[in-house]
Amino acid sequence: MPSFNLNVLMTLVLGLLSLSSLSEAEYRYHYCSNTTSFTPNSTYEFNLNLLLSSLTSNATRELGFYNTTAGSLDPNTAVYGSFLCRADLTSDACKDCVATAARDTVQKYCPLRKDTIIWYDDCMLRYSNVSFFGNMDEAPRIYLWNVGNITNPNRFNEILAKTITDSVPVAANAAPGAKKFATKEANFTAFQELYSLVQCTPDLSTTDCNRCLRGAIALLPECCDGKQGGRVLYPSCNVRYELYPFYTFVTAPPPPLLPPPPPASLTRSQGNDDQISTLVIVAIVVPIAILLFLVGCCFLRRRARKKYNVIQQQNVGNEINSVESLQFDLRTIEAATDNFSDQNRLGEGGFGEVYKGTLPDGQQIAVKRLSTGSGQGAEEFKNEVVLVAKLQHRNLVRLLGFCSEGVEKILVYELVENKSLDHFLFDSENQVKLDWSSRYKIIGGIARGLLYLHQDSRLKIIHRDLKASNILLDGT
Ligand SMILES: *[C@@H]1O[C@H](CO)[C@@H](O)[C@H](O)[C@H]1NC(C)=O
Ligand SMILES: *[C@@H]1O[C@H](CO)[C@@H](O)[C@H](O)[C@H]1NC(C)=O
Ligand SMILES: *[C@@H]1O[C@H](CO)[C@@H](O)[C@H](O)[C@H]1NC(C)=O
Ligand SMILES: *[C@@H]1O[C@H](CO)[C@@H](O)[C@H](O)[C@H]1NC(C)=O
Ligand SMILES: *[C@@H]1O[C@H](CO)[C@@H](O)[C@H](O)[C@H]1NC(C)=O
Ligand SMILES: *[C@@H]1O[C@H](CO)[C@@H](O)[C@H](O)[C@H]1NC(C)=O
Ligand SMILES: *[C@@H]1O[C@H](CO)[C@@H](O)[C@H](O)[C@H]1NC(C)=O
Repeated sequence: MPSFNLNVLMTLVLGLLSLSSLSEAEYRYHYCSNTTSFTPNSTYEFNLNLLLSSLTSNATRELGFYNTTAGSLDPNTAVYGSFLCRADLTSDACKDCVATAARDTVQKYCPLRKDTIIWYDDCMLRYSNVSFFGNMDEAPRIYLWNVGNITNPNRFNEILAKTITDSVPVAANAAPGAKKFATKEANFTAFQELYSLVQCTPDLSTTDCNRCLRGAIALLPECCDGKQGGRVLYPSCNVRYELYPFYTFVTAPPPPLLPPPPPASLTRSQGNDDQISTLVIVAIVVPIAILLFLVGCCFLRRRARKKYNVIQQQNVGNEINSVESLQFDLRTIEAATDNFSDQNRLGEGGFGEVYKGTLPDGQQIAVKRLSTGSGQGAEEFKNEVVLVAKLQHRNLVRLLGFCSEGVEKILVYELVENKSLDHFLFDSENQVKLDWSSRYKIIGGIARGLLYLHQDSRLKIIHRDLKASNILLDGT
C-alpha cells in the first residue's frame, strides 16, 4: 500500500437537512397538586412504579390508550393510571413518549405526588389515588399557543371554526373500543394550510366526547385568538390547530352516522367563565415544526406552499445558544478569506461557493457563501442555523456559525482538510488507495453519523443528500 494513511474519521457534510420531527418527546406541561403526596418507599410508591411499568409496556397497543390499576386490593394505596397517545403515532413512538413521561414525572416534575397529569406533544400520562376511568374531566385545563401571529384573523377564525368543528362528530362517533379522533385540513391562503386535530380518550361515551371537544373548541378564542397555532388540553380530550402538519396523515375513522350538529361558533365567550371552578393553567408554547436547512439548496427546492415555522423558544430555560454567539460579522469573514479571493476558493456547490479561511485566532474555516435568492428570511435563516449548530458529533462537520448581512448569507464550518470520498471511489488511480479495511472504517463512520442524525441527536434529522461527495475523509 502506498503511504496513504487514512484517518478513520469520516465526516458527513450536512448537506441537506430536513427536520422531520423531534426525536425526544417534547414536554409541554404538568399538573400535580402539592396537597397529595406519598412518602418515599411507601406502598403507594411501590404501586406507582408497578403502574408506570405496566402502562409503559402496554403503550405499544394499537389503541394508543390504556388504563390500569396497581394495588387495587387496598383502596388506600391503589394507584389508577392511564395514558393517551396522539392518534397518528406509531406504537413505537407512543411507547417512547409514555416511557419518557413515566420517567420524568416521578423524577423531575412531580416526585412524590399522588395525583399527576403530564402532557407531551405526543402523549399524556395521568395517575391518581382516585379512579378517574370513564370520567369526563375538564380540569385542569391547559392552553398552549403558537407565538406566531396570523395575518387575516377574521377569515382565519371562520375557517378554523368550521374545520375543527367538522371533526367533532367524526371523533365522537368512533366505534366503541376505537380511537376517538379526527384530523382535518383546509386551505387558508395559497401558501398556508390549516391542520387541525381533535381527540378524546377512548373511554368516553359519544356524548361526553362531543361535549368535551365542543367545550375545548369554544375556549380556543380565549387562548389563541390571532395565533398561528393553539391547543386546549383537558384530561379527557384535546384540540389543536397549526399552520403546519403536526401529525402524520392517517386514515380518519369512518364518517359519522349521525348528521353533524351545528358548528360551534368561535367567538370569544363572554365573562362568566370565572365562576366555573375549574383550574385554569395557561402556558405559552412554541411552534415546532421546522424544516432545517443548512445549505441553500433546500430553500430552492422547498415547495412554496408549505410554510414551516421555525422554533421560537420563548420559554425560560432556553437551551438554544444565543444567536449572537454564533454570528460572525461580514468583515471578519472577508478578512479570513482574503475578501473571497480566488486563491481561497475551494469549490462551488449547487448553492454557493466555498472558500477556505483563517480566523484571527488561527482557526481554519470553510466558508459557504450561499447564492442569493434563497427566498429565506434573515430571521428564519438565523433560527435554523442556531438549531443546526447544536448538532455535534465526531462524524459530522461542525457548523461554527453564520453571517447574515444584507444579501449575504454565509455559513461557517470547521475546515476538514481532506478530499471527499468520491475523489477516491471514482478515480481509477485513487481507488486502489482504499483497501478493504479503510472502506470498512468509512462505512462505519457514515453509519455512525447517520445514526446520530436519525436517533441520537436532539432533533431528528434526515440528511436527504447523502452521497460520496458529501463524505469528507479526515486525516492525512
Ligand atoms: C402548594 O403550592 C402553593 C403554590 O403553588 C403554595 O402556596 C403552597 O404552600 C404549597 N403547599 C404545600 C403543602 O407545599
Ligand atoms: C387520595 O389521597 C389524598 C391525600 O393523600 C387523601 O386525602 C384521599 O383520601 C385519597 N383518596 C383515596 C380514594 O384514597
Ligand atoms: C428507601 O429505600 C432505599 C433502598 O431500599 C434506601 O436506600 C432509602 O434510604 C430509603 N429511603 C427512605 C426515606 O426510607
Ligand atoms: C399490560 O398491562 C397488564 C395489566 O395491567 C399487565 O399484566 C401486562 O403485563 C402489561 N403488558 C403488556 C405487554 O400487556
Ligand atoms: C379501565 O377503565 C374502565 C372504565 O373506563 C374500567 O372498567 C376498567 O376496569 C379499567 N381497566 C383497568 C385495568 O383498571
Ligand atoms: C404578535 O402580535 C403581538 C401584539 O399584537 C406582538 O406583541 C407579538 O410580538 C407578535 N408576535 C410575533 C411573533 O410577531
Ligand atoms: C387546497 O388547495 C389545493 C389546490 O390549490 C387542493 O389540491 C387541495 O385539495 C386543497 N385542500 C383542501 C383541504 O381543500
